[in-house]
Formats: sequence, structure tokens, C-alpha cells
Amino acid sequence: MHEIRTLSIDGQMISASADATILEAAREHGISIPTLCHLDGLSDVGACRLCLVEIEGQNRLQPACVTRVEEHMVVRTTSARLKKYRRMLLELLFSEGNHVCAVCVANRNCELQNLAADAGMDHVRFDYLHPACTTDATHDRFVLDHNRCILCARCVRVCDEIEAASTLAVAGRGSQSWIVSDLQDSWGDARSCTSCGKCLLVCPTGSLFEKGHTSTDPERKEDFLRYIVNANRRKG
Ligand code: SF4
Ligand code: SF4
Ligand code: FES
Repeated sequence: MHEIRTLSIDGQMISASADATILEAAREHGISIPTLCHLDGLSDVGACRLCLVEIEGQNRLQPACVTRVEEHMVVRTTSARLKKYRRMLLELLFSEGNHVCAVCVANRNCELQNLAADAGMDHVRFDYLHPACTTDATHDRFVLDHNRCILCARCVRVCDEIEAASTLAVAGRGSQSWIVSDLQDSWGDARSCTSCGKCLLVCPTGSLFEKGHTSTDPERKEDFLRYIVNANRRKG
């Protein structure tokens, strides 16, 4: 029998399974929390911090995607502080990469762009770092453009957890991290890659795309996202 926890989210009393995260409990009750590295059907890594929430009695904000519900917990998912913090995180992501939306395959179909619009981000207050990133176009069919990568690691997890190829990984540390394939070979030399294209379908930005395509395919993405949720349920 599942143990149940009772808690309050944004003033709403809700019940959730004891092993549920705050994010799962909130979404189950129609309360939305912005996310970027989280994807239903994949494990959580708590990398982007966009889903931070306030928990009564705790000074530190906590990531809703990796924090379990607790009995009598009082959670707030919206406040002036959270709004400010989320906008700052988004501005930092834009300033740390080279996001030129007008020439991106994901333009108008980009989770980062949508979240920035939702947060009312009309400009970036930080200096653009203009990092000298490369683009790996060595794969027969796919391209990895590091300029637009926000290091959410969704591609790494889908390749490992759904395709079981484990081709992709995050190398380096902190702001000096980047996505590599097969121990830093170029993607075209990565023997473990099955060319399934799953990594392209989970990328929230235009970092991963198919050669010869000028835009991503939102319907194909939606179908695949439903598929991984169901695949995960079957495993569970
Ligand atoms: S195409 Fe498939 S196997 Fe290759 S890196 Fe992407 S998810 Fe992994
Ligand atoms: S390539 Fe895309 S999915 Fe992979 S870490 Fe970068 S932004 Fe995330
Ligand atoms: S969605 Fe929770 S840390 Fe990224």
C-alpha cells in the first residue's frame, strides 16, 4: 500500500504519494512549475534550478523536481522572490551561450525561448560572454551545436535510459562543461551511437538537429515525449 503525505502547495491542501516529488504532486493538481532539465519519463538531475520553490521553515530555495513531499510541508511555487530568481537564471543562460534565435532551427519551438517569454524577459542585464563554442557536424545525419547547449543533460539521459546506447556524456566541470560522445571522440566516430535520433527529440533548444532541416518537428517531438512517459510507466 502506498503511503500518503498531505501538504499545502500555494495554499491548496493536497495529498500525494510519499515518494512523489513536489513537482509531481504540484502537476498532478494542476499547479504549474517551470522546468528545463526535467523531462517526464527520464531520471531527474536537478541541474537547471528553474523549478526552485519556497518551503516554509527553510531559507534555501529547493528544486521541486528532486525534493520529495513531506507531511505538513507548506510550499510556495510563486512569489516575487521566485519570479526574480527564475528570470535571473534565464538571463544567465542567454548570456552564457550564443543564442541567436533568428537563425536557430528551434526558433518558435524552443523551451528556453518560451520560458523567457513566460518570465517576461525582454532583455538580458548581464554581459554576453560570447563563448568560443564549436559545432560537431561529423555525424552522418545529426549536428551538435555547442553554442546553444544549456547542459540540461536530457540528451545524455535519453541516450542512456531509453536507447541504452550511453553515447553521450557531460565532460568538464561547471561553466567549462560540454557534451561529448564516446569518451570525447567526435560524434561521427562514436561507435556506440545507433543514430536513433532520440537525443534530438528531447533537446529543449536548437543544439541538436538533423542535417538538411531548417526547423524542428514539434509533432514528432510531442509523440516521442508521450512514448518515453509510457515506456517509463511500463518499467515501473
Ligand atoms: S542518436 Fe541515439 S544513440 Fe546516438 S547519441 Fe543520440 S540518442 Fe544516443
Ligand atoms: S545538447 Fe540539448 S539536450 Fe543535450 S545538454 Fe545540450 S541543451 Fe540539453
Ligand atoms: S527542472 Fe528542476 S532543476 Fe531543472
